[in-house]
Amino acid sequence: MIRSKIAGIGYYVPERVVKNEELTQLMDTTDEWIQERTGIQERHYGRKHEETTTTMAAVATRIACERAGISPEDIDFIIFATLSPDYYFPGCGVLVQRELGIAHKEVGALDVRNQCSGFVYALSIADQFVRTGTYKNILVIGSEMHSMGLDFSTRGRNVTVIFGDGAGAAIVQPSSDPARGILSTKLHADGTFAEKLSFINPGCHGGYHAKKQGEEADFGYPPVNTYGEIFFTPKMMQEGQYYPNMEGQFVFKMAVQKFPEVIHEALEAAGLQASDIDMLIPHQANLRISQFVQKRLGLRDDQVWNNIQRLGNTTAASVPIALCEAWEAGKIKDGDLVCLAAFGSGFTWASALMRW
Ligand code: UT7
Repeated sequence: MIRSKIAGIGYYVPERVVKNEELTQLMDTTDEWIQERTGIQERHYGRKHEETTTTMAAVATRIACERAGISPEDIDFIIFATLSPDYYFPGCGVLVQRELGIAHKEVGALDVRNQCSGFVYALSIADQFVRTGTYKNILVIGSEMHSMGLDFSTRGRNVTVIFGDGAGAAIVQPSSDPARGILSTKLHADGTFAEKLSFINPGCHGGYHAKKQGEEADFGYPPVNTYGEIFFTPKMMQEGQYYPNMEGQFVFKMAVQKFPEVIHEALEAAGLQASDIDMLIPHQANLRISQFVQKRLGLRDDQVWNNIQRLGNTTAASVPIALCEAWEAGKIKDGDLVCLAAFGSGFTWASALMRW
């Protein structure tokens, strides 16, 4: 059986470092609160109007290609995970294809909208395509430009302090060694709590879901001009109803339950145990969540990669960036058992187990 492997990985974070202190000038928050509740000390923000989710992804891709020993021209399929796309449509898959100068190759480009678990979902899709012999050099991306869409007033502080910008990219190829590569992937979702961590406007919901759940939510529908305001009503604009929203504690409780569950599931499918893991790369949602998962799995500090302190939560980019950092630091060696796991908005959660 053909297995797929990550043949090259790269990441990019923008130059500008934003420390907690800088956020305290904009909203009612403190460095102590942010560090104590999340572990975050700083994050990076891209250069507005110069860098985008797509351009960051292209930088990460070129590094990944070089490490995989291929040129962007050799990419035969693109899977792009993001919740902060350059455009509402088309997606970033086609934009990064153009940015890389390979649009003339006309290779397929797929966008994945699975938020924090987006990269693991995307990797799983790539794995299926490689194992069936369909493609040989799949570009898998997780990239986010959060800083363009956050509420920097006190109203948005519970969300805004957490997120940072960055991109990670991997080239997925067939593995020549049947013992090495992706061993198992597990994907899950539960839409019951879709709005607990969401960014619902712009959208064409027209208040439907809120009404169906018996909630009193006034988005200002119907709009004054039906044709011109399908996505934004004047009320949304006036009240700033176009920012991400999160019920933090609810999400936290689900995350600490689902992370260990989905990791055990991937281990079981591969006939392995938590004690076999050499390196766990958890989605960087909150340092307290990662520490909880580490404890539950009985892993040592040096078996879990955490970078949320320096980068914040970069959603779809967080797993590939952390994986790349751990590999660059020499903490992932040939033959190591690496586990990727993520949980986030949807809710969606996923894991991938690979023999490096
Ligand atoms: O990546 C996708 C998945 N996301 C997650 O897994 C996130 C999971 N949730 C979390 O990480 C945490 O719930 C947060 C970090 C978001 C929040 O931490 P918390 O300990 O759950 O705080 P909280 O939301 O319960 O808020 C506690 C208090 C509130 O004040 P009162 O009502 O107790 O007076 C908030 O208004 O902290 C207040 N607060 C803040 N204070 C200072 C909320 N945000 C801030 C802030 N600075 N930035």
